Amino acid sequence: MRAHPAGPRFGEILAPAGAPAAPVDAEAMHALAPGVWPSTAVRQGGEALTQRAVTIAGVDLRDLAEEYGTPLYVLDEADFRQRAAAFRDAYDDPEAPADVFYAGKAFLSTAVARWVDEEGLGLDVCTGGELLTALQAGFPPGRIAFHGNNKSVAELELALEHGVGRYVVDSFEEIVRLAALAAERGVVAQVLVRVTVGVEAHTHEFIATAHEDQKFGFSLAGGQAEEAVRRILKLPSLHLLGLHSHIGSQIFDTAAFEVSAHRLVELAGRVRDEHGVEVAELDLGGGMGIAYGDDDDPMTAKEMAELLRGIVRRECTALGLRLPRIAVEPGRAIVGPSTVTVYEVGTVKPVDLGHGHTRHYVSVDGGMSDNIRTALYDAEYTVRLVSRVSEAAPVLSRVVGKHCESGDIVVRDCWLPGDLAPGDLLAVAATGAYCRAMASNYNHTPRPPVVAVRDGASRVLLRRETPDDLLALDAGLG
Ligand code: LLP
Repeated sequence: MRAHPAGPRFGEILAPAGAPAAPVDAEAMHALAPGVWPSTAVRQGGEALTQRAVTIAGVDLRDLAEEYGTPLYVLDEADFRQRAAAFRDAYDDPEAPADVFYAGKAFLSTAVARWVDEEGLGLDVCTGGELLTALQAGFPPGRIAFHGNNKSVAELELALEHGVGRYVVDSFEEIVRLAALAAERGVVAQVLVRVTVGVEAHTHEFIATAHEDQKFGFSLAGGQAEEAVRRILKLPSLHLLGLHSHIGSQIFDTAAFEVSAHRLVELAGRVRDEHGVEVAELDLGGGMGIAYGDDDDPMTAKEMAELLRGIVRRECTALGLRLPRIAVEPGRAIVGPSTVTVYEVGTVKPVDLGHGHTRHYVSVDGGMSDNIRTALYDAEYTVRLVSRVSEAAPVLSRVVGKHCESGDIVVRDCWLPGDLAPGDLLAVAATGAYCRAMASNYNHTPRPPVVAVRDGASRVLLRRETPDDLLALDAGLG
């Protein structure tokens, strides 16, 4: 392979301390690792290597950028459906019945809610907004689970009015509130108690949720979980369906799930001993990690299902409990890898790092307003040049946004071709979860559209916001 005249040759490049190793050749620099990239993503096109662009579901990302503009989220519908179906099948065991609820907080639109329904999954919502989206999509309310640590009266009323299937209760206030509202309507609400099981999940502090000192759930160690059960059992308008735990997000450490399952079953045993009631369900939450880079090696849905089923069965047998239905709530593991964000390069600024090293600051036309995860959680992403293939030697690069903030980083450390130029298109992989969902209008930036691709065609799931959308909120005008 020809080396770029201006730079060193592949294989001769040394990374500065702390930076990832440089790619060994042009192929590695352009590779789309399976699992990180959507399942239909490939590089194809013209004879010349340098003309090869990336297609997803047979659609060239250059054409999508042309048609919809950038930044742009491109969602591979087949990838989403395959992952949803893989979860459904992994938990489809007649001897250990289970339910999978897609966690809509990762990304939700009416089309996505319909896919979730068609693939036979339930849906976890955690706000009135997510609930409304699901209802608008015609999602069966009986298969909706309503989460949240501070559900308002209005949200609970909306849910009760539509017959939402289950409520994961999170506070003593909510128990009283929900019981009163259900009683007013003469209905019985199905509830699960969100239990803080005290597991230290090995993930970023902000996305760990089952250690004691945080806002979610009823503490197991402090006895509040048992007290919540006592109160629910006394209220005729509530039915105790089960126990729930969610230990955090982007978790690879299966031991954390095992400990959590173990503690929930133990609690189920104590509930049986104290009240003579065997809970029908154990919901182990979401949080299964995905591959953001080549080195991440997440468990498959099937492996995870086997592990969870095994532990619940073992613990229940030991305590003489009937096997409860199991539920899980994956969000990221279904939608995360389905989507890439396409950006256009605006400026490239070489910065001398000393000791013979240079870093290229590659500015793109989006940033922390469409992906806050790098700034918020030090998330690591994989980025590729997708509008062509370059044979230029790689340069240590940092993909940054256009926002007025130095922490506005999309990909902290990556190797991109040294000849990157304005107009090139970059794609960042695995941005399906918590990117559009957490997007903001920082610096009065309209949020990008989400376009789904399937069988060579594209369609808009969420349209691009316009400056007029933003100005429409400004009460000072007219
Ligand atoms: N169930 C419950 C009760 C949850 O709170 C969550 C996520 C899930 C399921 C889905 O978790 P997943 O499978 O998607 O990891 N914004 C953060 C993640 C926050 C997750 C909040 N709860 C991020 O970008 O990493």
